[in-house]
Amino acid sequence: MKEQSFNEWLETLKSKANIVDVVAGYVPLASKGGRYWACCPFHHEKTPSFSVDEQRQAFYCFGCHVGGDVIKFVMDIENTDFMSACKLLSQKVGLPMPEFKSKRPGESLHKKKERLYELMRVAARFYRETYKSEKGIAAREYVAKRGISEKTAGTFGMGYSPDYNGLPAHLKEKGFNEVEMIESGACAQKDGRVYDVMAGRLIVPIIDGMRRVIAFGGRVLTSEKQMKYRNTNDTVIFNKKCEVFGQDTLKKYRLQNTVKYVIMVEGYMDVISLYQAGVQNSVASMGTALNVKQAEIVKRYCDTVYVCYDGDTAGQAATLRSLDIFYGAGLNVKVVSLPDNLDPDEYIKERGKEQFIRQLDNALPLFEYKLRTLANGYDTTVAEEQGKFVVEAVKILKTLPSPAQIDAYIPLVAKLSGLGTDTVRRQLMQESEFTEEGAPVLLTQQTKRKDGKYYKAMRFILYALYGGVDDLQTFDKDLSLYCEDEEHKKLYDYYRECDGQPSIDDLLAFENEVPEVKEILAEGRKVSGAVAGVYFNDCVRSIENEFVKRQRKSLLKAYAESASEEEKSQILAQMSNNQKKK
Ligand code: UTP
Ligand code: MN
Repeated sequence: MKEQSFNEWLETLKSKANIVDVVAGYVPLASKGGRYWACCPFHHEKTPSFSVDEQRQAFYCFGCHVGGDVIKFVMDIENTDFMSACKLLSQKVGLPMPEFKSKRPGESLHKKKERLYELMRVAARFYRETYKSEKGIAAREYVAKRGISEKTAGTFGMGYSPDYNGLPAHLKEKGFNEVEMIESGACAQKDGRVYDVMAGRLIVPIIDGMRRVIAFGGRVLTSEKQMKYRNTNDTVIFNKKCEVFGQDTLKKYRLQNTVKYVIMVEGYMDVISLYQAGVQNSVASMGTALNVKQAEIVKRYCDTVYVCYDGDTAGQAATLRSLDIFYGAGLNVKVVSLPDNLDPDEYIKERGKEQFIRQLDNALPLFEYKLRTLANGYDTTVAEEQGKFVVEAVKILKTLPSPAQIDAYIPLVAKLSGLGTDTVRRQLMQESEFTEEGAPVLLTQQTKRKDGKYYKAMRFILYALYGGVDDLQTFDKDLSLYCEDEEHKKLYDYYRECDGQPSIDDLLAFENEVPEVKEILAEGRKVSGAVAGVYFNDCVRSIENEFVKRQRKSLLKAYAESASEEEKSQILAQMSNNQKKK
């Protein structure tokens, strides 16, 4: 019998996984006008604009414009890659996934990852069993001393590593080889011996949004002569900078509640203590420095983040930078400063949940926090310092996205400086050179970031146009307007020149001349099979939206700079026009 191809299997899978049933497993759907509707799980909203079309087996959100087929939906909601989404769906509908011996790129990596997830799960179980056994007594005592109940310890799967040899021996018994043990980061090798890097530590498994154990945090139990925490080194399944701790519990929280905001804390113990006290929507960045990817994870759950870092790190450069990253990711940022240098763990244990919530209520909006923190560094009873403060404060104001928002903060700056609002305004006018595109510096950097959404979309589009996606429907839009990257422009122009028929080999021929080609190939391989066409359309829509946004920004700039009322009203008219077009 002819072997079934991956695409054939995929078609069977899709025919069995009715998108309406799959989506209904995540969000309650209401039927209206031949479609199903829900509040969008991908952005925060009060009235439903997320729709599912059973006939076309597709979903689309009229609010945030995400859409696609059932596999795309699972990829988005589970935050996972194409193959894992297929696997998950196959389990849901009970259609086993055969081993495909095809040359699909990325498949061997996928297999390796699966193996490492399995290894980490076995390791987590081993640690957990050890913790509960005779050997785990010191760990249990430590946990009790910190006021963590056994129930909470169980919820987070806390464990204990007995020594250097226990884990490798156990993993060997379970059929894992030494190479795998080392690749997983759970073990390392010295003088030819493979050992458990967490020996003697209390173990906190780091679990991702798919309930997979991807790494461990290990805390010393006794004196802190050693490093207090040791984390699994980065591996193919774990990149510390890009993960948050507590996504698993946050996801469970979302099943029962609307996530109005997420609380971002620094440490494992903060998340665990808050959880035990009944605050179950916090995650930890695992240190002060934050990465864009971590902010993007939060953004998937809601639009507001309360940053609640340890008292002693507030106001430090790394913290301020983290706040900007959250802001750059489009989140509404509130800053909580706990009194007496307490961290969230200590605070909630000492004063309880209600007091903690009160602290959240008193949180400062990002810009107010920045201005007040800045003011702390100046003695505004001295005339010279007043002026210096205003100069610096105005720099902060200029990173606000609109003239109206800048206006709203002028009184605060005036009050903090002890000078009049006119003075602040004059300072603003004096320094009114904006960045090139008129966007405040922060936003410009954000959109130019080479790993941003825009870049990803443009790369995939180029990959598809160069024949990377099979059966792409005839595509005759002109995208040259949107190619802002020189390298992209070069590739796009070439595509136009050869009547839209270049091949992947043509793309490869550019490899030396255009370094972006490598990125394009990598991006292109992330999505394949039947969804690629849908994803392509999403990418096109996404760069079009981006373009409209930018136009708006440059109009805002023109508006801010224009002195004539007539010109201002013209600009406003133009802006509302653009809005309608969109
Ligand atoms: P903290 O020192 O604030 O952690 O570091 P914590 O959770 O409050 O620790 P406890 O209460 O003393 O047990 C915040 C986070 O920074 C990372 C860990 O993720 C920690 O949770 N960290 C800290 C390390 O990776 N290594 C370290 O040595 C210290
Ligand atoms: Mn702590």
